[in-house]
Amino acid sequence: MKILITGSTQGIGRAMAEAFVRRGDDVIVHCSRDLAKAKRVRDEIGAASAVVCDLADMAQVDGLYAQTGPVDCLILNASVQVKAGWQDITDADFDRQMTVNVKSTLRLIQAYYPAMQAKHFGRIVTVGSVNQYRQHPELSMYAATKCAVMSLVKNIAKYAAPDGVTVNNIAPGAIATPRNAAVYDDPAAREAVEATIPLGRFGQPADCVGAVLLLCSEAGGYITGSDIVIDGGMHL
Ligand SMILES: NC(=O)c1ccc[n+]([C@@H]2O[C@H](COP(=O)([O-])OP(=O)(O)OC[C@H]3O[C@@H](n4cnc5c(N)ncnc54)[C@H](OP(=O)(O)O)[C@@H]3O)[C@@H](O)[C@H]2O)c1
Repeated sequence: MKILITGSTQGIGRAMAEAFVRRGDDVIVHCSRDLAKAKRVRDEIGAASAVVCDLADMAQVDGLYAQTGPVDCLILNASVQVKAGWQDITDADFDRQMTVNVKSTLRLIQAYYPAMQAKHFGRIVTVGSVNQYRQHPELSMYAATKCAVMSLVKNIAKYAAPDGVTVNNIAPGAIATPRNAAVYDDPAAREAVEATIPLGRFGQPADCVGAVLLLCSEAGGYITGSDIVIDGGMHL
């Protein structure tokens, strides 16, 4: 299958890209601006192609489909996260997170959907967060964007089902990626986070792969409108 994974040059997206390549899929690696990095990752993992598109720039978002053509699976993994207490969220923080995390998600689903509809097959997976379920003093706006995407997923899933397209979300917990390196690499900070996780450890990017492989397989074809939480029980 042909699969576009946004934000697949590192972290969770890269682990997914590697897994789909191992499965024999044609994977398109994506990041915001650094085409050399995207191409390097493409070559390192044996992916089919590499593209750049800044999801904060809607003109670029609208040009992504022309770069890739239709795909069988669209995995919307890239996001931005601005840490700020709820009283300190600025318009710029609000707009950036809403644009990258929500607006580009909807726009890309709109762009890639018609070809899926015509083929009567498609798999769309968004990547949310345990913050859909759990409060954090500095992530109110980020959490709101992830909840907004989950709402879109449920609504679109219902109306896309007759077209043979499934739409689901996965919600990772604390995963050891470059985004979290400062916490993960500091033993005291890491222990404080791990104390909140029933399974007692940070997740690794590879922990997020199984659910997405399932959703993008024949075996997962009857799952739509769902949220699969991958967090070691952190939401409990
Ligand atoms: N790590 C966690 O603990 C955790 C927990 C819950 C949910 N998540 C979610 O899981 C997903 C992946 O997280 P991660 O930790 O693997 O992320 P990460 O290490 O920060 O990597 C983010 C990826 O997204 C791309 N990206 C960021 N901003 C972009 C933009 N404006 N336009 C296009 N691409 C952009 C990055 O490319 P560039 O380098 O070009 O910016 C990079 O490839 C995100 O949706 C995140 O919210 C992560």
